[in-house]
Amino acid sequence: MKTKTAMVTGGCRGIGLAVSRQLVLEGYNLSIMGTSKGEKVQPVIDELRQKGKVLYVSGDIRSGGDRSAYLDATLAKFGSVGLLVNNAGIAPEVRADLLEMSEESYDRVMATNLKGPFFLSQIVARQMIRQAENNQSEGQTAEADQAAKTADNSGINGLIINISSVSADVVSINRGEYCLSKTGLSMMTRLFAARLAGKGIPVFEIKPGIIETDMTAGVKQKYDHLIEQGQFPIARWGKPEDLAEAVSLLISGKLRYSTGDCLHVDGGYHIRQL
Ligand SMILES: NC(=O)c1ccc[n+]([C@@H]2O[C@H](COP(=O)([O-])OP(=O)(O)OC[C@H]3O[C@@H](n4cnc5c(N)ncnc54)[C@H](OP(=O)(O)O)[C@@H]3O)[C@@H](O)[C@H]2O)c1
Repeated sequence: MKTKTAMVTGGCRGIGLAVSRQLVLEGYNLSIMGTSKGEKVQPVIDELRQKGKVLYVSGDIRSGGDRSAYLDATLAKFGSVGLLVNNAGIAPEVRADLLEMSEESYDRVMATNLKGPFFLSQIVARQMIRQAENNQSEGQTAEADQAAKTADNSGINGLIINISSVSADVVSINRGEYCLSKTGLSMMTRLFAARLAGKGIPVFEIKPGIIETDMTAGVKQKYDHLIEQGQFPIARWGKPEDLAEAVSLLISGKLRYSTGDCLHVDGGYHIRQL
């Protein structure tokens, strides 16, 4: 990829932080969005800045204005964007039965986990396409452009990775809004993959299983028990670093004839067994 600037939503905590650490190690400029204000995330930003260039933008993925401001700030600082990791997400505040779930919770979860990533991807994809067109019109002949693509060994104009969940496939009747949002994100991956393939922008999905972060802290005992009972073929909690390594694989440039694929990072939980 020619542009080594990555946007990572929710990149200061949990899975997103592990991804951020991986990306700065790999030489990416990093632009992170989260709802936390500056002083709360400052220690993490300081840590990341020891390895590379990092911008933090405080904003809410649900807001169109905040999404635009996030992209604008990224471009103002780094000039272009090559990678978007749609990681920010929330669980419902209350795990309510499907017959009791509130409309407020439905709206909040769907706006954060699906609508936000959808419309952020839309504006970032447009930007990636503009960058590719500008590169081409900046005096490059078709042959020179082809040579440049071969030289950087990719022909890739950008890349989008969506962090969905096993909940895209697995029913939990006490958090249906979360399952719906993640199923939507799976379809969103394939929609954008199909739309952007001709533009040299692959789109991938990663489906994490049970990962040890703040999100699962409140249900730790439940999952400890399930792991002990052998529910997960690889019998341990997933770590945020497992996801960071999956992102590293997808951005390696070694999957040049693939887009729209899903990588399960769930200890084999998705395997159906009799
Ligand atoms: N942990 C798991 O077991 C697991 C399993 C499957 C899928 N996932 C998915 O993986 C992703 C990361 O999960 P995690 O476990 O790392 O969660 P986490 O530790 O709770 O972190 C969530 C991140 O999302 C950001 N965020 C939340 N609401 C936001 C909003 N409205 N606008 C912008 N940023 C927002 C948070 O930033 P602030 O704190 O600054 O708001 C935080 O950085 C989520 O999409 C989650 O659904 C997690």
